[in-house]
Amino acid sequence: MCGIVGYIGKREAYPILIQGLHRLEYRGYDSSGVAMISTKGELNIYKSKGKVDALEHYASDKDLSGTIGIAHTRWATHGEPNDTNAHPHYSQSKRLALVHNGTIENYTVLKVALLKHGYTFVSETDTEVVVQLIEYIRDTNHCSLFDAVKEATRQIVGAYAIAVIDKENPDQIIVARQSSPLVIGVGEDEYFIASDATPIIEYTNKVVYLNDGEVAIVNRGEPLHVFDAQGESKDCIDITELRMSIEELEKGGYPHFMLKEIFEQPKTLADCISGRISSDGKRVVLSGVVMNKEKFLNAHRIIIAACGTSWHAGLIGKHLIEDFCRIPVEVEYASEFRYRNPVVTEHDILIALSQSGETADTLAALELAKKKGAFVFGICNVIGSSIPRATHSGCYIHVGPEIGVASTKAFTGQVTVLAMLALLVGQMKGTVSDETLHRVASDLRRVPKLIKDIFKMDSQIQDLAKIFTYAHNFLYLGRGYNYPAALEGALKLKEISYIHAEGYPAAEMKHGTIALIDNEMPTVVIAIKDNVYEKTVSNIQQVKARGGRVLAIVTEGDEIVSKMADYIIEVPEIAECLTPLLTSIPLQLLAYYIAVIKGRNVDQPRNLAKSVTVE
Ligand code: F6R
Repeated sequence: MCGIVGYIGKREAYPILIQGLHRLEYRGYDSSGVAMISTKGELNIYKSKGKVDALEHYASDKDLSGTIGIAHTRWATHGEPNDTNAHPHYSQSKRLALVHNGTIENYTVLKVALLKHGYTFVSETDTEVVVQLIEYIRDTNHCSLFDAVKEATRQIVGAYAIAVIDKENPDQIIVARQSSPLVIGVGEDEYFIASDATPIIEYTNKVVYLNDGEVAIVNRGEPLHVFDAQGESKDCIDITELRMSIEELEKGGYPHFMLKEIFEQPKTLADCISGRISSDGKRVVLSGVVMNKEKFLNAHRIIIAACGTSWHAGLIGKHLIEDFCRIPVEVEYASEFRYRNPVVTEHDILIALSQSGETADTLAALELAKKKGAFVFGICNVIGSSIPRATHSGCYIHVGPEIGVASTKAFTGQVTVLAMLALLVGQMKGTVSDETLHRVASDLRRVPKLIKDIFKMDSQIQDLAKIFTYAHNFLYLGRGYNYPAALEGALKLKEISYIHAEGYPAAEMKHGTIALIDNEMPTVVIAIKDNVYEKTVSNIQQVKARGGRVLAIVTEGDEIVSKMADYIIEVPEIAECLTPLLTSIPLQLLAYYIAVIKGRNVDQPRNLAKSVTVE
């Protein structure tokens, strides 16, 4: 949701900024821009609607000199995507330039006040208000840029990560953060600023994550100065060493990140379970859980708060935890939970489930639960992101950077961690037998290999995609552990192909949705051999009886559904609770190939952004 990049040092800033924007383009791609202080001392801003390529094209014949600059790729919140609303924004005098990620809630009030002081605005954005406010404060208080930013952050309400430069001081960038992520990379006499570490990693693996309320002075060739929310200078700045590699950020020969990430799953899931399940499959260890054993043993209830795909993984987590731990679990849309007055007590655990660790609603849900006394536990992918830093404890899914906007490997990583958590807590509580733990944990260890087996059907799935691309509506049905997998399959198709798709619990279909079935609308049914297999078979018969076309995901060797369905995809047999880890793979591939045939921009679907840091 908007990406910020900044650079100050000895190198030419422009190539670093542009490369950084490309790396962050998954966060927003409706417009982008750069601001640099040139060798002549001019503050140049170049902006363009559309992708970063459009900006590069626009800027190609401009003065691109300078060793300090800030840049931005936008996902519009205030004002339509166009050149004017794109960031960076100048202040009134054109002395300052600013980029911003987040939303300023009180911007209209501030704008009215600034208009009264003679300020004029060229864009419709909340961001322009911030840069004007900073200039106004600096000019009226005759203070430094740093003091003006500090004072402005006191006056603005909302979420922001900002970076500001001043034409008159080409040796300084001021940055600030509140509820939107900001990372500073520390190099040799140079600093890199970004919304996440991906633009930084090719230059340095030493990073400083700004905390909420912090403002930093990034001076050329000087040590970093970070000031906490109280305005106190921090004597000791935490420098984190990243372990991410640059290869993880490249497409590695695949046409899209999404396809690369789908095919990476055998490796990412092996990494996810590595060191967490013993080689004999008899022990599961998640240190974040073990260290808080008493909390899990005494929990009256677990609430899983998440959004989108993570919410679907959370639904599978509910089944797992209730099955193995006998602890009641509620799965909440974080955006609803945070604005209700939910009953949460100190006997509850809230699990914040998020790939990015930055989703604004999930972060707010966890803060609410924390305030009400719950123990908050994070399951995230992005190391050092806001959610892991706000929780009491947690564990990472360790699937590596997910760049494709449609989540794939993070989903299976989340389900894998939830399965390990359920087994571990169940073992600690004595609600799961050693035999079950051994069976399920051993099957978890087989998952990477079984996913590789599913990939052998890749060309068959491509053929199915050709058959089904005509459809305008799809129905996805599943039951039990695979109802969330059906929801997830439908979401994947919707977001990247723009085909309407609905996920439904198979039996619930007859209470309304069945009215939609005809030979135009394909039904994808997950009909693996589980405890409701016969029921699902009869749901398929109901669809067929109404002329529906059925594509079924079945267990290898199935002889019943394969005779009824128009098409089948087989997945290997595994413990029932782990089946979504396999059934979701062909659904990811199906969505991908349909979207490709339809000519969609798979990695950057319209209107979407990778991490939703605004409400
Ligand atoms: C769908 C997708 C989104 C995210 C959702 C939550 O493919 O990626 O639905 O799952 O925005 O994001 P995180 O998991 O980062 O909190």
